[in-house]
Amino acid sequence: MVAEDPARRNTGPALELERVVKSFGPVVALRSGSLSLHRNSIHALIGENGAGKSTMVKIMAGLYRRDAGEFRLHGESVDFASTAQSKNSGIAVIYQEPTLFPDLSITENIFMGRQPVSRFGRIDRKAMRVEVEQIFARLGVGLDPDRLTEGLSIADQQIIEIAKAISLDASVLIMDEPTAALSGVEVERLFTVARSLRDEGRAVMFISHRFDEVFALCDTVTVMRDGAYIATQQIADTTVDELVRQMVGRDVTELFPKQETAVGEELLRVDGLTSPGTFHDISFSVRAGEIVALAGLVGAGRSEVVRAVFGVDGYASGAVTMGGQTVPQKKPTAAMRAGLALVPEDRRKQGLIVDATVGGNITSAIRRRLAAFGLITTGIENRAARGWAAKLEVKSHALDTVAGTLSGGNQQKVVLAKWLATNPKVLIVDEPTRGIDVGTKAAVHALLSELAGEGLGIVMISSELPEVLGMADRVLVMHEGRITAEIDRADATSENVMHAATHASEQHS
Ligand SMILES: Nc1ncnc2c1ncn2[C@@H]1O[C@H](COP(=O)(O)OP(=O)(O)OP(=O)(O)O)[C@@H](O)[C@H]1O
Ligand SMILES: [Mg+2]
Repeated sequence: MVAEDPARRNTGPALELERVVKSFGPVVALRSGSLSLHRNSIHALIGENGAGKSTMVKIMAGLYRRDAGEFRLHGESVDFASTAQSKNSGIAVIYQEPTLFPDLSITENIFMGRQPVSRFGRIDRKAMRVEVEQIFARLGVGLDPDRLTEGLSIADQQIIEIAKAISLDASVLIMDEPTAALSGVEVERLFTVARSLRDEGRAVMFISHRFDEVFALCDTVTVMRDGAYIATQQIADTTVDELVRQMVGRDVTELFPKQETAVGEELLRVDGLTSPGTFHDISFSVRAGEIVALAGLVGAGRSEVVRAVFGVDGYASGAVTMGGQTVPQKKPTAAMRAGLALVPEDRRKQGLIVDATVGGNITSAIRRRLAAFGLITTGIENRAARGWAAKLEVKSHALDTVAGTLSGGNQQKVVLAKWLATNPKVLIVDEPTRGIDVGTKAAVHALLSELAGEGLGIVMISSELPEVLGMADRVLVMHEGRITAEIDRADATSENVMHAATHASEQHS
């Protein structure tokens, strides 16, 4: 299948960046970015939030032009002025959340802008469909090429982007945190596809904050720190500890430091919450000082439950009470007044005001309260914002930075800071460390533990078992919209949590 491209026959790297520099006004995003990607290889690029990984990707994608340094493709110097130039040169970038056209079919999306024409001058739909079928068969993907892309999962949308890359015969595939929003099975399927791309002679690059993924998939790893290249190693020759040291520049102390805290009075009570087709008969309570984890597979209904508890979505029956008082349905402001806060899963879409500053985002949820006391002064706002930004290690040069220009992980931290600043009684966090680097992850865990110690009740949704087992006092496991197990910290193991996450409990099956 690989085209007869003379450039491919040379033995050097497929793609190289050498000491690449990129600034945005006063912000130096890349001081010295270097990387060489080779055919038949899956290369990990890792580094803390804001290290410059996505900036490297955007230069390869033709979204940004470098200020200085070398960029070579198959040995030839290139300087892309557009994403089209990058694509046409055989580079395909798969983003965390692809942007397909929802009202076009899978096939039409794959052939967007380059439909083959039949001998009669018509668009040759049959040829397109056959090609897509062949690619899907090769990738072992069971999608119908004729279906519209509307409503497809993120995982399927990524596969379509990959199919498009194959159909364009891309020689370099770049994936920027593709697994962040995928379930375990979907990650496995993506890895199988990535391996077959590698075996076909392509160069694959993979960005992730999860070391288990890096070690399972990649053969080579490059570490970046503060916009600069640190080291490249063979995966077989390195360890997680060594990579963490290179990323952070120091030793990172243990993750999941949940401290023992005295559990106090009941704060939040959820009784028989039901939303037909989404979740059924959900009951649980959260007490002061307690961290309750909601575990389960992606799609089990965990996010839907907490959205209903916080009043973002409604429910058909059941009740939510805070300190004995009913929290009305579908009124997030009332829920906030009652002392609830929800840090949503998709922070970029649901939590961040991209055009506002970092400081403005952090204080946006408390502004009403400050104003009620006639206290709305920039000084107070800035002090509140700076405190939380520092606690969460938001790497921004100033609180007046526009939030949309922060790195993905730093945007996550800003939204977390915003909700913590509301000083809630019960904090609900949906995937608190997704997209967050290893050093800050430890900081987020320490912070959650500290907040519980101060008497906050915490509900934590997490798809990472070690995080669940390390942080939770109690684990509620959901499967297909129902709670299938409630397990105390002392009894929770990855086996019993996984079992409950994948099986209906007896009384419901
Ligand atoms: N368009 C922009 N304008 C201003 N600053 C930017 C812009 N794009 C990136 N930056 C800055 O460049 C730095 C590197 O960001 P980048 O997105 O490359 O980090 P990253 O390594 O991908 O981090 P993450 O793991 O959080 O995704 C950050 O400090 C970011 O704020
Ligand atoms: Mg990034």
